[in-house]
Amino acid sequence: MSSLLILNGPNLNMLGVRQPEIYGATRLEDIKANCVAHAEALGISCKFEQSNDEGKLVTLIQDARGVHDAIILNAGAYTHTSIALMDAIIASEVPTIELHLSNIHAREEFRHHSYISRVAVGQICGFGAKGYLLAIDAAAGLSEIP
Ligand code: DQA
Repeated sequence: MSSLLILNGPNLNMLGVRQPEIYGATRLEDIKANCVAHAEALGISCKFEQSNDEGKLVTLIQDARGVHDAIILNAGAYTHTSIALMDAIIASEVPTIELHLSNIHAREEFRHHSYISRVAVGQICGFGAKGYLLAIDAAAGLSEIP
């Protein structure tokens, strides 16, 4: 594991001001700084991106093919709607860890279904901003998963 893509979907640029009672008070730029530092400590280089645009996220996932060893994806609301993101993960052939700040299974029923889960190695949710660091640790250990 030497190169990681951390990808954030719609509305995650609003972290810190958007429903802090659900998503916490940490801003995305602080999460980014923590991720880069944590990955570096593990000897992993890390690219961190956010887009509100489904097509841009598809392109970023496609472009990860042969470039990044793993993707950590918080697809936001596209998690529950996007066959295009699911297909892009399959096409990229890059092991993908699904991530959510909130516990989507304890929330509204429409958040219980995830297209990403069908193709992800696993899912981390409910641990707030700390989940990003847990996901980096999971990515670092991917080669030990059968
Ligand atoms: C989210 C959960 C999604 O259901 C929601 O649409 C988001 C954020 C999370 O990180 O908890 O935008 O992915």
